[in-house]
Amino acid sequence: MTETQFLAPAVQPDDDELERSLRPRRLDEFVGQERVKEQLAIALEATRTRGEALDHLLLIGPPGLGKTSLAHIVREELGVALRSAAGPALERKGDVAAILTALSERDILFIDEIHRINRAVEEILYPALEDFRLDIIVGQGPAARTLTLDLPPFTLVGATTRTGLLTSPLRDRFGLTFRLEHYEPPELARIVRRSARILEVEIEDEAADEIAGRSRGTPRIANRILRRVRDVAEVRHQGAITTPIAREALDLMEVDARGLERIDRALLRAVVEKFDGGPVGLSTLAVALGEETDTIEDVYEPYLLQLGFLQRTPRGRIVTKLGREHVGAAAADDGPNSLF
Ligand SMILES: Nc1ncnc2c1ncn2[C@@H]1O[C@H](COP(=O)(O)OP(=O)(O)OP(=O)(O)O)[C@@H](O)[C@H]1O
Ligand SMILES: [Mg+2]
Repeated sequence: MTETQFLAPAVQPDDDELERSLRPRRLDEFVGQERVKEQLAIALEATRTRGEALDHLLLIGPPGLGKTSLAHIVREELGVALRSAAGPALERKGDVAAILTALSERDILFIDEIHRINRAVEEILYPALEDFRLDIIVGQGPAARTLTLDLPPFTLVGATTRTGLLTSPLRDRFGLTFRLEHYEPPELARIVRRSARILEVEIEDEAADEIAGRSRGTPRIANRILRRVRDVAEVRHQGAITTPIAREALDLMEVDARGLERIDRALLRAVVEKFDGGPVGLSTLAVALGEETDTIEDVYEPYLLQLGFLQRTPRGRIVTKLGREHVGAAAADDGPNSLF
């Protein structure tokens, strides 16, 4: 495993269990996103009082900001069951029909990566979401008939990293839509301290701040870094996490002061050095880096855009003056030939 992989937001199997154990279970354990929490709390309260199913809920935001956590929190707060499915895995209408007909009243169906469900599946969802009705065609040719099944009132919770890819008929069927934003360092520091408590490792406040500041606004990354820092603290030191130990571990991981990793710096530098600062098209850039275009767009770019290091223009990606200064400063650390 390379350094860049071990912090990548994609869930690694060995991190699965850890991630579950650190996941907030109740709304009041969910740090930050105050406006989302406030609106969600009202919707939950009203739903409980009326004894109805919660409105369909769409959660939008970059990886690792808490979409799956929120889906499970909603389940917990409502005391209902949750069935979960990955958008791309729902290939046939029959798959969806089977899942929908197995739901009980007020249950939650959680579809992750909902922007990746296919068209046929999406169409079967429309009447299911709107009227709790399933239209199934049986037989073929002139003998074909439509069977209509009633479904129990349920809640669809959809998660997506990209709204742009969701069709508007689908988007319009969600009564509640929340957009998660990157977290501020003080919020991330709270998450780090909470996770350290759960992992039963001592951490200095300042060390938590140090990790928070280099976690790219993302709780999942903060938790990943914490785990690596804990390894260094246990293997090389006495176990407790002090600020120098946090810094030592972060340097080892090649996470720089702004939270960029080697691959982020490689991306900026590829644009600067190979494409003269840009503009360069996404697919060209992907080839130069040996990465998928989706990964670049969903994982690396959002934070670089937020820092103002990168710009998306109609003609392609451009590295800004700030971005050039940052890689200029980092160049000494990475060495001249470490990129490609
Ligand atoms: N607001 C929060 N408070 C505390 N911990 C959080 C919060 N948000 C996320 N986390 C932590 O970050 C981890 C990742 O969050 P989660 O899996 O919910 O992200 P996600 O948005 O579903 O990501 P993906 O798009 O990759 O599926 C969780 O296991 C949890 O430990
Ligand atoms: Mg998720």
